[in-house]
Amino acid sequence: MEKKKPFPNLFAPGRIGKLEIKNRVVMAPMSMGFAQQDHCFSKKDINYYEARAKGGVGLIITESVLAETEISIIPPEAPVVACDSDSVMPGLKALAEAVHSYGTKIAMQLSPGQGRQSYIANKMAIPAAPSPVPAFTDHDITCRELTREEIGKIVKACGDGAERAAKAGFDMIEIHAHTGYLADQFMTPLWNKRTDEYGGTFEKRLKFIKEIIKEIRKRVGSDIPIGVRLSGEHKIEGGRTIEESAEIAKKLEAFGADVLHIDAGCYDANIWMTPPEYMGEACYAELAGKIKSVVDIPVITVGNIKSPETAEKILSDKMADFIGLGRSLLADPDWSNKAKEGNTQDIRSCLICNEHCVGKIVSACSVNPILGEETDYKLPEKLKTKNVLVIGGGPAGMEAARIASIRGHNVTLCEKEKELGGQLVAAAAIPVKKAIADFTAYLVNQVKTSGVNVLLGCEVKLPFIEQMKPDVVIAAAGAVPVIPLIPGIENEKNISILDFLSGKKDTGYSVAIAGGGIKGCEAAIYLAHKGKSVTIVERLSAVAADVNPISRKTILKLLQDAGINILTGNTIKAFTTEGMLVEDMSRQKKEIKADTVIIALGVKPKNDLIKKLGDRVQEIYSIGDCNNPRKIGDAIHEGFRVGSII
Ligand SMILES: Cc1cc2nc3c(=O)[nH]c(=O)nc-3n(C[C@H](O)[C@H](O)[C@H](O)COP(=O)(O)O)c2cc1C
Ligand code: SF4
Repeated sequence: MEKKKPFPNLFAPGRIGKLEIKNRVVMAPMSMGFAQQDHCFSKKDINYYEARAKGGVGLIITESVLAETEISIIPPEAPVVACDSDSVMPGLKALAEAVHSYGTKIAMQLSPGQGRQSYIANKMAIPAAPSPVPAFTDHDITCRELTREEIGKIVKACGDGAERAAKAGFDMIEIHAHTGYLADQFMTPLWNKRTDEYGGTFEKRLKFIKEIIKEIRKRVGSDIPIGVRLSGEHKIEGGRTIEESAEIAKKLEAFGADVLHIDAGCYDANIWMTPPEYMGEACYAELAGKIKSVVDIPVITVGNIKSPETAEKILSDKMADFIGLGRSLLADPDWSNKAKEGNTQDIRSCLICNEHCVGKIVSACSVNPILGEETDYKLPEKLKTKNVLVIGGGPAGMEAARIASIRGHNVTLCEKEKELGGQLVAAAAIPVKKAIADFTAYLVNQVKTSGVNVLLGCEVKLPFIEQMKPDVVIAAAGAVPVIPLIPGIENEKNISILDFLSGKKDTGYSVAIAGGGIKGCEAAIYLAHKGKSVTIVERLSAVAADVNPISRKTILKLLQDAGINILTGNTIKAFTTEGMLVEDMSRQKKEIKADTVIIALGVKPKNDLIKKLGDRVQEIYSIGDCNNPRKIGDAIHEGFRVGSII
């Protein structure tokens, strides 16, 4: 009997204007930094988009493509794409062809410009914006007001770019008008102070986008749909509310837009633009639903949508007509095909960590070491079959074991605990870290199905290795907590962060956390939400200094909202029977009283066995935290590399 296909709404065909789309999965636009220096799509770009088309996406929206490059500021070395001359045509054609060969449709995200959000290095340029407001990247610089002639040039350039896209075979144009970029600045009184026909009233502020839609329509005809990406809310004081966005949405429909793509935020509230996990699942869906209720054209939602179940629910609840996936498709280009076949356990889920993809000149991914290379990538063939012993079932060990086994080696993976996961198990203990739990489940399943011989509860010692005589040892035993030589460290009320997170030990009502790194901060938020009184003591001048800026901003807000007491610049002098004695920068000492003290002072490599191995084994590798404690992505990449070369 044929297997029943899950997610009927997600895999039902859809339509935008006259464009038929095979399913409801839309790849959200993401600037990857793979472009050529001449601002054309590169071979790597085409490879990257093709992999997502092959993976079953219905509609791909490209990263933002600048309509013109004279008024907009682009740093010369910036790998951004533009469509301001016919030299871009070969790249556009090759891209459209590659994507179409899988029955996937492709839209170009066309950007009228960045205005006050332009990147300005060393005060070298003055951005042109609707009005002379402070530039985002340097508030000391005031933007210059675009002249009417320049506005006309930008509108025409949008028409030229759209016409090039259409001639190259693109199926749709999406206007980049969200999150405080130029078109959004025109629509927003906070940034548009003009008194001419482009500002001053609601209608006049929409004149710029209206002219762009009209120009594009004139140049591409009625068969090619035009979409507009719009922020439902800016999430800043004085920014747009959902009520105003609903009014704009109605106007955009009247101007001829065929689809609206709703997200949230702006550079001044950038935690919303690539929302960390703390912002919750499907975090813009409610905004999309509100827009959908006032227009007749389809609406795309996006933002922290990881599972096909969530996507299906959004569609069946009629919150949106299409599901935009950004980072989920960086993590796994085959998300769509796996969901369609009901193989959800095989989806390599995004950690929503923002560690490698956001804020980099060239994006990468923590869990997908071959991002952008997928279409052509083949694991290297092994020269001979080896017996491989992997010590430690954390992320690095599991990835190395999985890859080595796929390549045909005989792999045994030993884990001293009763389950695989290593530090991931503890890291996923806090409910807000569901993404880590999902990824752990994925990796464990992949290891089990890749033919690796897994031995749980097996602590590897020298005699085991001498008896097994492996050709290769991959040491991935992780790390152990740093136990500093501070008086009272052995006190009964002190527990390690790992024991706390793994549920081996609980806390009393008042908790002092020694160490304000990301693990200490997340534990603090978790405990505060459970009604406990929490103090963090950190020697450095800032907490959560070991996390990327976007996630950090969110963490700081959560710490503040949870009322957590934070003492930075404080050194722990002793652990006492009452809690701990700390000293601040001005050498003032005070005692922090707590029922429980959590020690979160970092970890160090667990590499004692490797040191003892000597020349007993021909090939020895040390990976992950066992090599040098870092992030999950570093462990995965190292495991992948070593699994690929042995
Ligand atoms: C690396 C990266 C680059 C992005 N570049 C763009 C872009 O060029 N244009 C755009 O409209 N949105 C861009 N975005 C935002 C995404 O389209 C999307 O709205 C956001 O990532 C939230 O969706 P997600 O949770 O599915 O990733 C980018 C996001 C990422 C992660
Ligand atoms: S780097 Fe992190 S957030 Fe970005 S796509 Fe990869 S797993 Fe997701």
